[in-house]
Amino acid sequence: MSIGRATRWSRSVADATALHIRWMIRRDMPDIMGIELASFEYSWTEDDFLRCLRQRNCIGMVVERGHTILGFMVYELHRTRLHLLNFAVHPGVRRTGIGGLLASKLIYKMCSHRRQKVTLAVREGNTQAQMFFRAHRFSAAKVLRGYYEDSGEDAYEMEYKPLERDWDPFGGAPVNRIAMYEER
Ligand SMILES: CC(C)(COP(=O)(O)OP(=O)(O)OC[C@H]1O[C@@H](n2cnc3c(N)ncnc32)[C@H](O)[C@@H]1OP(=O)(O)O)[C@@H](O)C(=O)NCCC(=O)NCCS
Repeated sequence: MSIGRATRWSRSVADATALHIRWMIRRDMPDIMGIELASFEYSWTEDDFLRCLRQRNCIGMVVERGHTILGFMVYELHRTRLHLLNFAVHPGVRRTGIGGLLASKLIYKMCSHRRQKVTLAVREGNTQAQMFFRAHRFSAAKVLRGYYEDSGEDAYEMEYKPLERDWDPFGGAPVNRIAMYEER
């Protein structure tokens, strides 16, 4: 099921509790493509998603309310890190915390898979995404010159690393307190 751009969404706690994150499945593709095309000038095709998700280390997740998909993320699992490949929220529900919920889930996954960081590349011109990831404690690690083949644009590599105090003092994986709270 898809939603219109003009739909108004409440920020109430009751709405937030109805949100649900689950694995992406093939049936989700029409809704995901709707969000993808509305979000990016150089968007992925359905084939790009399917090719990526066929890789053993590639994981897709969606956030939905009822049967309505509101956002998604695709990431790769590497030996020491998670690398985010694609991430978007439906334009009609932005700035209501949905991206934050996905980011918390990603950080929770980093902790539970015992990886040391999350990385991503963001276009130099995508200041909204840069501000979003900064708000979630990601920082710019380096500039990737001419990173994008489509436009030749530079990218910033951004990364999230848990703070010292997030690590379990008994030697376990880092503890993501925000995600633990949201998982309840
Ligand atoms: C980036 C994106 C995923 C953010 O999703 P979202 O659901 O709107 O994010 P949230 O509501 O959780 O925002 C959390 C905080 O991030 C920051 N933020 C998010 N969008 C912002 C924007 N457009 N400008 C400035 N700050 C922003 C704010 O601090 C915000 O908190 P606030 O609303 O209380 O001020 C969404 O804008 C999007 O889908 N953009 C297009 C696709 C894209 O660029 N993806 C990233 C590719 S690297």
